Formats: sequence, structure tokens, C-alpha cells
Amino acid sequence: MKLKKILCVLTAAFMAMTLLAGCGGGGDKKEADSKAKSEMKVMRVAGSIDFAPFEFQDETKKEYQGFDMDLIRAIGKEMGVKVEISNITFDGLIPALEAGNIDAIISGMTINDARKKKVLFSDAYYESGLTMVVASDNSTIKTFKDLEGKKVAVQIGTTSAAEVRKIKDVKITELDTPSICFMELMAGNVDAVVNDRPVNDYFISRGFDGVKALPERLTAEEYGIAINKKNPELQKKVNAALKKLREKGEYQKIFDKWFAAKKVK
Ligand code: ARG
Repeated sequence: MKLKKILCVLTAAFMAMTLLAGCGGGGDKKEADSKAKSEMKVMRVAGSIDFAPFEFQDETKKEYQGFDMDLIRAIGKEMGVKVEISNITFDGLIPALEAGNIDAIISGMTINDARKKKVLFSDAYYESGLTMVVASDNSTIKTFKDLEGKKVAVQIGTTSAAEVRKIKDVKITELDTPSICFMELMAGNVDAVVNDRPVNDYFISRGFDGVKALPERLTAEEYGIAINKKNPELQKKVNAALKKLREKGEYQKIFDKWFAAKKVK
């Protein structure tokens, strides 16, 4: 009888210990998981890689080129993470971020309220705006008002698409990339392309004949790096890295490489 009692107590004690150990184990695992999350080793970034001089493929180089590409790699270096960049069509970027397939977007993406409902943005890293490109011999289109009733090409899912839709009687063609928009213009299929100013200027500075950029700016916009809503920690880290790069003069170096040096306004 006594022995049975002792055994019973021992068994109970053993069970209690196993349970506690089990709990402890679970706790450790949880801690490890959240640590792994906060100590991200690779930052998966995507852009729509056809937006020179921000992101583009140079056939002679292995890595994607451009201001955004250099900037995000410098941010990654500052954060101590590896940066992995993939190419996704512009209108697929935010869905990919929301699905958790990528950690961040850098793609000349304008910070605006509509997008803020879906993503977090870093601090602004570039001031931009929209201008239009028309045939050099076009003398009827001088301002955005002149686009009424005209055929205009824009990239799908962009601020250009949203702005042009507001123009009265406009016939809008929404295409996958600005390059395709420019081709449509040079083929005479549309009257104008509305797109981000630095990209229009860069395109023309590369010596494409027969088209010109008009000086009027339809909007003033700022670019930001988009981050998943559930990851404010990453937003903080990206902002801290961006601030450091500005302080160290690294941001200016990257800027000069793509803009000042090429004399693109
Ligand atoms: N800034 C414009 C926007 O956010 C156009 C960006 C297009 N970017 C690109 N990589 N194609 O809507």
C-alpha cells in the first residue's frame, strides 16, 4: 500500500516534469522563431525591371542596374542582409508583397494614399512627377489639357494611368512597360505617352529620335520602398539604413552616378 502511494507520487512528479519540460521547449521554439524573423538574412525585393535609370537590365551585366538597384543593395549592406532582387510586372508587385512572396518593393513606386491602404512605405527617397512625350513634329499637344480626345499610352497600374483616366474623352492604352508605350508612340499608334519625368528624360537622352518630352509637370510625386503591412520592424530598419546612407554621403554618390553624371534633370 505504502509502495503504491510512493509510486503514485513519483509518477505524478515525473508527469509534471515532462509537462513543464514540454512547455519550456515550446517557449524556446517560439522565441527562436521570432528571433529568426527579426534577424532576416535575405531581403527578398522585387521591382518591375524596365524603368531606366531606376531599374533595368543591361545585357552586358549580370546584375540588374539602376538607381533603385544600387540604393536597395546599399540599404541591404547597411542592414547586414543579402538582397535578392526579382522582376515582377508593375501591377503584380503589391499583390506579391501582400501574399508574402517578397519582403519589399523598390520600383520607382510613388507614395500615395491608395497604396498606403495596402502597404507601408519607407521615407521618400526620390522626388519625381509626371510629364509627357510626343512626336517631335507634334505642334498641337503642348499641355496636358491638349490630351483631351487623344490617344495616350501609359504603363498599367501606375499613377500615370490613374491621372490620364481623368482627362476628358481620352483614349487610353494601358501597356506592361514604358518601353512598349514608347514603341507605340514611335510607331504612330498613339499621340502621347504619359510617364515619370526622369524616365522620359533618360529615354530621350539615350538618343531616340523623333520624340520629345514636354516640360509641363502634371504631378509632383515621391518614391518610397513598399513593405508588408505586417512588418513595421522592416520599415524601421529600412528607414534607419536610408538615413545612414544620406549621412555618410553614400546616397549622394549613388544619385550622382545615375543623375548628375548623365545630366538628366
Ligand atoms: N511612379 C509611378 C507609380 O508609382 C510609376 C512607377 C513605374 N515603375 C516601374 N518600375 N515601371 O505608379
